[in-house]
Amino acid sequence: MTEAEAGRRLRQLAKEIARHNRLYHDQDAPEISDADYDALVRENAALEAEYPHLVRADSPNAQVGAAPSSALAKVTHARPMLSLENAFSAEDVHDFVRRARRFLSLSEDEPVALTAEPKIDGLSASLRYEGGTLVLAATRGDGTVGEDVTPNVRTINDIPQQLTGAPDVLEVRGEVYMSKADFAALNERQAAAGGKVFANPRNGAAGSLRQKDPANTAARPLRFLAHGWGELSEPLGTTQAEAVEHLRALGFPVDERFGLFPGADAALAHYAAIEHARADLPFDIDGVVYKLDRLDWQERLGFVGRAPRWAIAHKFPAEKAETTLERIEIQVGRTGKLTPIGRLRPVGVGGVIVSNVTLHNRDEIARLGLREGDRVRIQRAGDVIPQVVENLTPDEDRPAFRYPDHCPACGSEAVAEEGEVDIRCTGGLVCPAQRLERLKHFVSRGAMDIDGLGEKTIVEFADLGWIEKPSDIFRLGVHRTDMLGREGWKEKSVDALLAAIEARKGFDSARLLFGLGIRHVGIVTARDLLKCFGTIDALQAAARGDDGIAELSAVEGVGPVVAEAVHDFFHEPHNREEVAALLRFAAPAPFVSQARETEWSGKTIVFTGSLETMSRDEAKAQAERLGARAAGSVSAKTDLVVAGPGAGSKLKKAEELGIRVATEEEWARIVAEA
Ligand code: IVH
Repeated sequence: MTEAEAGRRLRQLAKEIARHNRLYHDQDAPEISDADYDALVRENAALEAEYPHLVRADSPNAQVGAAPSSALAKVTHARPMLSLENAFSAEDVHDFVRRARRFLSLSEDEPVALTAEPKIDGLSASLRYEGGTLVLAATRGDGTVGEDVTPNVRTINDIPQQLTGAPDVLEVRGEVYMSKADFAALNERQAAAGGKVFANPRNGAAGSLRQKDPANTAARPLRFLAHGWGELSEPLGTTQAEAVEHLRALGFPVDERFGLFPGADAALAHYAAIEHARADLPFDIDGVVYKLDRLDWQERLGFVGRAPRWAIAHKFPAEKAETTLERIEIQVGRTGKLTPIGRLRPVGVGGVIVSNVTLHNRDEIARLGLREGDRVRIQRAGDVIPQVVENLTPDEDRPAFRYPDHCPACGSEAVAEEGEVDIRCTGGLVCPAQRLERLKHFVSRGAMDIDGLGEKTIVEFADLGWIEKPSDIFRLGVHRTDMLGREGWKEKSVDALLAAIEARKGFDSARLLFGLGIRHVGIVTARDLLKCFGTIDALQAAARGDDGIAELSAVEGVGPVVAEAVHDFFHEPHNREEVAALLRFAAPAPFVSQARETEWSGKTIVFTGSLETMSRDEAKAQAERLGARAAGSVSAKTDLVVAGPGAGSKLKKAEELGIRVATEEEWARIVAEA
């Protein structure tokens, strides 16, 4: 990897990891497994170690979890709530002990006792007691600043409100979690009531704890297990085991599998026992945490970055199973992305029955050589969607899976962008899978800006079959009577909506073009395209021409990716029909440019070489004012090439094609005389 590539990859990783942090911590909706997340973090750390000068200010390594969201008040922790380094093998655990020994300058035969306990898959919380009374409870947040969840925590039965014989200041840290059984029952209740269904117990716990109204938290089955402490006015003991015993005596629940071991080997045996029991435990765990027992050693070891040197999390490997891939189905996402889903013969993996896997994309199917009927090994890490890790029957004589080239939801062509693995449906306007997103975009502020047509109304009207595609919005008037008969609609609101829609007929073409939701076409690109082609009809004609992509790419500000997206969009008959319908209804005002009608109107001019009396932009603006179009490349459709010193291939091509060539001076004369 070159340095530039490393820099690019670090930027991508920072963005990607931040996104997964938000999904996990803020939205309680992870998209990838913990193992995949860890792999991203490790890749980032390895690159940062190799290229320390490329470490970014927004490095994921510098942040713990996600910054707190704004709904709850913020709390700065008296002592930061940090994170743990991960170990993935026995060797990693031995290394951890070796590093600690070296740091403490211990001899080989000095025993290093370790505690070991399950790593609970919950949400960490810090509980502050002053004079024995619970005064503050906070989530971890970004490690420095968390969220105040005191009233919510008061509703958790496991957590004592009052302590006797406790240090004057005591911060107890531990996990708020939901048992597997309570989680399943909660999800059933939520589903029956049409509420949010959680992906896993951890998300259930986080979503339940971070409620604005503590009454909501009270209705959720949350539990707590203590595993450490923050600020203390006096020590809880001289060892981890003693301190934990002290917490237990004060009334805090401590997991029964917490144990003290003379060294790494014994602690590793406990890990194996916990892993064996994992599926039968009442709550989700994702590893075992080892801590050096002696607190004076913990003190000396301190922290590095965001994690203590005296503790490590030994993660469980992903759980695996074998089954048959019965069918491969293609799902269309809200943005038109086609995702293959594997339907499996149901199989148990780590206590959960799995019948679906994501197959990610076309390349992944090809990489694994997957066909319907194959035996596959699947793995499940954490509680996110399991995946196929191996095809066990790659050589069997069955037909290869044919990836569709049409969208299963609407039949439009599905294409991959250059260099992209994802395949997307091009029927944006007419595809039912993309309907809601498209309609929302169409009426949004920057596009048609139709007041009173929010997501709820769009969904309501779509369910009634009144709007399937944007042009239906302009036909809503025919449903006026039915609308008036619906709950929540009064004459005033119905007429206001219909008037808002009416007012949008005659909107400028650039907003309409932007509103079509063509990939990569923002409002600026929409304007650039219309500046060049004048009308959506003319743009469509150009896009559909033999040389469509080249002609679109020649527009200032339009690159090949945009050109291809516009070309693909207008290539799809469903989209053309819809555009025609829209143009009939909306009759948008033509795009107004500052061009004059001259003999150069509609002609194409290319500037090449260096210009001496004006900038390239000025020259192009002059051409546009004459009604001409400034293009970036020379083709048979070019009418004039203005060539300055240093002109190369474009000039040569113009000469070959017999196109008129002018000097800068001649051009100035053309402008003056036009
Ligand atoms: S000890 C200085 N023990 O895992 C941090 N953490 O990945 C000491 N966790 O934020 C943490 N079970 O919320 C510890 N038995 C356990 C744990 C545990 C779960 C969480 C904790 C921490 C995260 C780090």
